[in-house]
Amino acid sequence: MSSTALITGASQGIGKATALLFAKKGYDLIITARTKDKLESVAEEIRSFGTRALAITTDVSDRNAVEALVNLGIERFSKIDVLVNNAGICMTAPMSKTTIEDWEKIINVNLWGYIYTINVLLPHFLARKQGSIINVGSFGGKVPLPNMTAYCTSKYAITGLTETLRLELEPQGIHVSGIHPSVTNSDFMERAVFRDSDPEQMKKMLSTPLVSQPEDVAKAIWDAVKNSQAEVVVGSAKLPTLLHRLFPGITQGMLQMATKSQG
Ligand SMILES: NC(=O)c1ccc[n+]([C@@H]2O[C@H](COP(=O)([O-])OP(=O)(O)OC[C@H]3O[C@@H](n4cnc5c(N)ncnc54)[C@H](OP(=O)(O)O)[C@@H]3O)[C@@H](O)[C@H]2O)c1
Repeated sequence: MSSTALITGASQGIGKATALLFAKKGYDLIITARTKDKLESVAEEIRSFGTRALAITTDVSDRNAVEALVNLGIERFSKIDVLVNNAGICMTAPMSKTTIEDWEKIINVNLWGYIYTINVLLPHFLARKQGSIINVGSFGGKVPLPNMTAYCTSKYAITGLTETLRLELEPQGIHVSGIHPSVTNSDFMERAVFRDSDPEQMKKMLSTPLVSQPEDVAKAIWDAVKNSQAEVVVGSAKLPTLLHRLFPGITQGMLQMATKSQG
């Protein structure tokens, strides 16, 4: 029987690249996002590799919809082996320019969206004493980034969720991994909300060779599942992430200087 992966935010970018890679490796896929036509076209591409695809439009911040999604996936494929929590949104703004509505939106998608899928799928994984939970975080969940207060808060929460869950679930046979991409060439920045920062400057970063491709992150996710890796920082943020872990005072100082020179 084929293995099955459930991937959120699979209509484009990192989620789409991951879905296509898992399909090439023979996985059946349950894919979700909000935009039906894009999701259907990814499902068609998946089927062209000879595996099955179930595309279900879902807003991951809707708890009942996530419950229905997971239950339908298990009913259709009889099991789920891998969960890739990936659906996310971006906002660049300091706290003073972030409204409570902004906070609610970003936390609802980037944090609650991950908690809802895990909450519904966990009994299935525990009953089978196996399964893999991959949480796509960000280097902004390992290093504080200037003017990205709400985004970094949501991604630091994902780091905490992932590391704590790993302690709890690995003894029960369930693999938990955090994948932290650096800046990646998807439409993420195009779709981001910008307040008090220059969208063009952020978008310029996407044309430097330091930027990862969605396929690089997809490969890191695949390797993490196959080799039961606990955590991977993908791309050019590897070194700054290591520096921040070893010398947080120094990196904090450097980032403060960068923030002042922007202001
Ligand atoms: N790109 C980067 O530079 C970068 C860097 C570090 C971390 N990441 C992380 O990588 C993940 C994927 O990002 P990406 O670069 O692939 O971004 P992307 O191209 O904007 O794709 C985001 C995906 O999430 C879906 N999505 C957004 N809101 C949703 C919601 N409420 N319910 C269901 N699906 C939703 C989108 O589809 P719909 O809009 O159709 O729903 C889309 O499929 C995110 O968690 C992001 O934080 C990205």
